[in-house]
Amino acid sequence: MSVTIGTPLQSSAFKVLLLGSGELGKEVVISLQRLGVEVHAADRYDHAPAMQVAHYSYTLNMADAEELKQLIQQVKPHLIIPEIEAIATQVLVDIEQENIATVIPSAKAVNLTMNREGIRRLAAEELGLPTSAYRFADTLESFRAACDDIGYPNFVKPVMSSSGKGQSRVKSFDEVDAAWEYAQTGGRVNQGTVIVEAQIDFDFEITLLTVRAKNAETGEIETQYCDPIGHRQDSGDYVESWQPQAMTQAALEESKRIANKVTIALGGCGIFGVELFVKGDQVWFSEVSPRPHDTGLVTLASQFQSEFELHARAILGLPVNTTRHSVAASAVIYAGVDDHNLSFSGLNLALSNPNTDLRLFGKPEGFKRRRMGVATARAETTDQARELALHTATQVSVHQN
Ligand SMILES: Nc1ncnc2c1ncn2[C@@H]1O[C@H](COP(=O)(O)OP(=O)(O)O)[C@@H](O)[C@H]1O
Ligand SMILES: [Mg+2]
Repeated sequence: MSVTIGTPLQSSAFKVLLLGSGELGKEVVISLQRLGVEVHAADRYDHAPAMQVAHYSYTLNMADAEELKQLIQQVKPHLIIPEIEAIATQVLVDIEQENIATVIPSAKAVNLTMNREGIRRLAAEELGLPTSAYRFADTLESFRAACDDIGYPNFVKPVMSSSGKGQSRVKSFDEVDAAWEYAQTGGRVNQGTVIVEAQIDFDFEITLLTVRAKNAETGEIETQYCDPIGHRQDSGDYVESWQPQAMTQAALEESKRIANKVTIALGGCGIFGVELFVKGDQVWFSEVSPRPHDTGLVTLASQFQSEFELHARAILGLPVNTTRHSVAASAVIYAGVDDHNLSFSGLNLALSNPNTDLRLFGKPEGFKRRRMGVATARAETTDQARELALHTATQVSVHQN
C-alpha cells in the first residue's frame, strides 16, 4: 500500500480542506504541513487559529449547504476534515456518495456525532453499549415528563450543542422549566430537541483516544489506543487533563471494548475521542468525537506522536505509534475578559521550568470563558504534572490593550 503526496501549491498537491479552524485544527494543520500536504482552512470568522498556519483560508457559513458546496467545488480537496459539528453534514454525505472527496473519518461518523440523538441511539440501541438512562424531548411538556421519568439529578443538553452550551444539571422539579429555557437558547438551533440523561455517579471520567489506521504492510485498518486521559470538566468544559489515568485492568479492557465497537460502527480512518465514565470496574459510554479531542492536548507533552500527528498520519493512510513517553498534564488558559487584540505576559516565568510548555492559539477575540491557550507539564506522577500545569497556566496573564 503506497501513499503518494505531491508538492503543495503545484498541480501534484495533495489537498486537504479543514472545516472549522480552531486550536485543535491548528495543530492538525501543522502536522499535515510537516508531511507536505496543501492545507485549506475554513471557518465562520477571519484569522481563526488554523487559518493562520494554512496555505489558503476561507470565511463562510459552513452550516449553509450552498456556501459549503461551492467551497468544495472551488478547492477540489482530496480529503475533507470537519473540525466542528455545526456543518451542513448532508452535503458531506452527498460528496462521499459521489466520490468527490473522502470525508474524515466518514460522512456517517460526522453525521451521527453532530447530533446527540444519532450517536446515543447508535451506541445504546444498536450496539448495546452501557450508557446512562436517557429520554429525548422537543416540547416543554414532554421535557417535564422526561425529567420526572429519569429522576434527579439529571443532565439536560440540547442535542445540537457542544462544549457545555445550553447544558444544565437539574437537581429537582423546581429547576425543570429554567433548564428548558436555557437549553433552547444555548443550542445551535433554536427550539431544538434536548436529551435528558440520568446522572452517572462515576469515580472519574476519561477520554480514550482511539486511532483507526492502516497497517503498513497489509493495508488493513487496525485499531490502536492511547493511554487513558483523565480530565476535569467545569460547566461542561474541560479545564485540565492528565495522562495516564490510573484504572483497573478490567475497566481498561471494558473501555477498549466499548471504544472498539463504537469506532468500527462509525468507520473510516483517523483519531476518535471516546468519552467514558468509570466507577471501579464498570464503564459507561458517554459520547465520541470523530476527531482530536480537547482533553487530548496533553498528548503534545506525553506521546511521541501527539493526537494531532496520529490523526494526520491515519487520515493519510500512514502507520501510527500511540506510545507515551512521559507522564503529563494540561491546563487551560482562559481570556478572563471580553475583548479583542489581547496580550499575554508572564511567559518567561511560565516556561522557566524545563518540563513545561505552552500553546497560545492566536484567537483574534477573547471572552471570559474562551480558551486562548493551554499549558502542558511533564512530571514523575500525574498529581505533580497536574499541579505544575495548573501553576504554569496561572503564570500566564492576559491583558487588554
Ligand atoms: N449523565 C451524566 N452523568 C454525569 N456527568 C455527566 C453526564 N453527562 C454529562 N456529564 C458531565 O458533563 C460533561 C459534559 O458533557 P458532554 O455530554 O460530554 O457534553 P459536551 O458535548 O459539551 O462535551 C461530561 O464530561 C461530564 O463531566
Ligand atoms: Mg464531552
